[in-house]
Amino acid sequence: MMIGGRPNVSLVICAVVFGCIFLTYLGSGSVRNQLNSTSSPTRWVSSKGKHEKSDVFNKTLGFEKVFVIGLPERSDKRDALTLMSSLTGFQLSWIDGVLGKAIPDKALPFGWNRETMSDSNLGSWRGHINAMRRIVEDGISSALIMEDDMDWDVHVKGLLAQFAEAARALQKGFHQDQRLKSPSPYGLDWDMLWLGSCITTFDEDLPEHLQIPYEQRDARKILIRNDPTVPPTGHLLANGSFSWDDYPPQTRIVYVPGDNVCSFAYALSAAGAQKALQYMGLEGQQKPFDNHLSDLCRLRVNGMRCVSIVPSLFVHHRPRGKISGDSDINNAGEAVREVGFTENVLYSTRLNLRNLVTGLEPEKQWTD
Ligand SMILES: *[C@@H]1O[C@H](CO)[C@@H](O)[C@H](O)[C@H]1NC(C)=O
Ligand SMILES: *[C@@H]1O[C@H](CO)[C@@H](O)[C@H](O)[C@H]1NC(C)=O
Repeated sequence: MMIGGRPNVSLVICAVVFGCIFLTYLGSGSVRNQLNSTSSPTRWVSSKGKHEKSDVFNKTLGFEKVFVIGLPERSDKRDALTLMSSLTGFQLSWIDGVLGKAIPDKALPFGWNRETMSDSNLGSWRGHINAMRRIVEDGISSALIMEDDMDWDVHVKGLLAQFAEAARALQKGFHQDQRLKSPSPYGLDWDMLWLGSCITTFDEDLPEHLQIPYEQRDARKILIRNDPTVPPTGHLLANGSFSWDDYPPQTRIVYVPGDNVCSFAYALSAAGAQKALQYMGLEGQQKPFDNHLSDLCRLRVNGMRCVSIVPSLFVHHRPRGKISGDSDINNAGEAVREVGFTENVLYSTRLNLRNLVTGLEPEKQWTD
């Protein structure tokens, strides 16, 4: 879907946690307006106050469920995530991860080659597909699906509320003939909200779009300005097709994904889960799950309407300890990491757990 010749519009939206936030709509041929606003100090747990009527602040972050996919034996990861979500005010539902070798040949997805492709990628695919099927089976109106090594900012609810505002503004360019059946604080015209990825390529920068005139590419963007939880520019990663230097510091970009890498966290609406299950479950599978998920958005399979944000709101944590424990997909030998970290998350919930349980203020990972 191409959107042509849209004007740039600036929206000023009073968001829930950070006071007035300036959102800038960038159509194609964008001019990056400079806007300023002051931001008020933040609280890390957002209770429902006067400005916090949005369902984003409820126990499931404005979705019907928050699913986490993880192998049951990784009790270390379950301990961490349970404590993190409880301290930042939401509830998780676990979906058991699957080992590739547990999938019999007869149930292999079309195109899967056991000789050339790794069993752990197969297991990862099955865990995600099980989550999608659960949404369809149980008639769930929307769910956030995340992997079990996630981290997020302690202000996650405020950040999601701010994202919801921007996502709703962005959806004005989507087909509105398939509106969500249940109300969602994230808008009524989405299939997927890709909230956690590790590399972002904007749609207009995709190789297959470079041949067509810029104004015919889908370059819609909403900028969230003056967000004090965005790390200093020198610590920002994930920009696969653009420079952070082209945006003012403390900016988050809400956009239509071209190609995202890493399936850290994404939400599906009921219709989105059906579209995803059809393509990713039944049409075959020949690549790592995250690249396949990216194709779903990139190729607009089944009319898929995706919205994403960078820097991401969910990013995998690299804990202190044996590096081999990070991933159930890759193996890294015996090396040990002395200090844990999470890319792109300033006030890491995981790294602030001791502060949070003892009532201290959360600390930043980086100060400059
Ligand atoms: C949170 O809000 C969403 C969207 O309105 C809703 O579907 C979900 O049931 C709510 N969760 C809880 C625990 O009330
Ligand atoms: C990402 O942004 C940094 C500036 O923060 C820049 O140096 C780097 O080249 C950018 N990467 C790409 C792929 O453009």
